[in-house]
Amino acid sequence: MRLVLKNIGSLLIAEQEPTSWVSGKEMSSVNALSDAWLVIENGKIACFGEGEVIPFTDDEVLDCEAGIVMPAFCDSHTHLVYAGSREQEYEDKIRGLSYEEIALRGGGILNSAKLLSNTSENELYEQSLPRAYEIIRSGTGAVEIKSGYGLNTRDELKMLRVIRRLAEETELTIRASFLGAHAVPANFKSDPDKYVRLVIEEMIPAVAEENLADFIDVFCDRGFFTVEQTDRILEAGLKHGMVPKIHANELDYSGGVQVGVKYQARSVDHLEFVGEEELIALKKSETMPTILPGASLFLGLSYAPARKMIEAGLPVALASDYNPGSSPSGNMELVMSLGIIQLKMLPFEVLNAVTRNGAYAMGLEETHGSLTPGKVANLIITEPISGFAFMPYAYGSSQINKVILNGKIQ
Ligand code: NIG
Ligand code: FE
Repeated sequence: MRLVLKNIGSLLIAEQEPTSWVSGKEMSSVNALSDAWLVIENGKIACFGEGEVIPFTDDEVLDCEAGIVMPAFCDSHTHLVYAGSREQEYEDKIRGLSYEEIALRGGGILNSAKLLSNTSENELYEQSLPRAYEIIRSGTGAVEIKSGYGLNTRDELKMLRVIRRLAEETELTIRASFLGAHAVPANFKSDPDKYVRLVIEEMIPAVAEENLADFIDVFCDRGFFTVEQTDRILEAGLKHGMVPKIHANELDYSGGVQVGVKYQARSVDHLEFVGEEELIALKKSETMPTILPGASLFLGLSYAPARKMIEAGLPVALASDYNPGSSPSGNMELVMSLGIIQLKMLPFEVLNAVTRNGAYAMGLEETHGSLTPGKVANLIITEPISGFAFMPYAYGSSQINKVILNGKIQ
């Protein structure tokens, strides 16, 4: 059975051949067809074109009413499996405590770990599922989800099993990252290296045994994990078939970018602190620099120097960082607005950053991120807006009319 989309005002990132990413000057251009149609067959994009389409008699036809059709968002960095919430810390921040001060008092990630430890796997799934549906409604089709609120073998496995269940039960394409090295638990404070050994010797083999993670992640930053510890953890993850992806340079020039590049990380994420050395390291790599402007907004941090990166010829991906502590939102339309307002990116630069560059950051560039024949039919149909730029311009209100995932209207 085919689904034919007709009366498309503008079809964006429509390409016959897939490109793995776009960088530098190319980031501001997008292949667009006007007055277009697109055919979906067996959950995949079959073909598209301009002008009139003549459907077969048993085709299902959807009139897009002159809206824009574009790839669904590829959100390459989230922590959307978590227990409870942390609005108390939100208030503490308003009263003047920093993210690091809250963490030092046993709040922050350790607070979420305590809540998660008292939550059963089933209950964790029940709490996380509405967030999965929420991001689907907001136009996300592929998402990366991290563990990292377990901080012991039992609870890390619990999180990763919930992530797997979300992948089985929803239309989202999900990639999982093992982030045991998210914070040092309180009972290891006097000997953080002992915790690193636990991650390497017990957790990574257990995660690999159940084949629960595509990626290995480390929070390599001031007050969290050092470059040397990150080095060892990435090496152990790689030995077990997990590809590195790093939290780097959110709080300082941590060396996280360089260690990520050394291990050919798929992406290095956050990047509020990026100087010449980091730019040079990234230029020589195939690592996707990924910016999370929601975390900068929510924590009142400085913003990553996106313009400098793009002008240096680098690619940039944008992701939501959906998590209870630094960015409790998975709304990619808002992420695009922040990309423009705060990162000074152009509308088509943010569009590329939340679609194909995000897909690359998850290793999904061959199946997601553009409207290319053979790729998964994950797409967004907008209201009949004047042009793509209206979507991030009208921040805080959604311009999405319909979301189609795996060829099915959601
Ligand atoms: O990406 N920076 C580290 N980890 C998360 C925040 C986690 C939390 O505060 O719960 C992030 O911002
Ligand atoms: Fe994160």
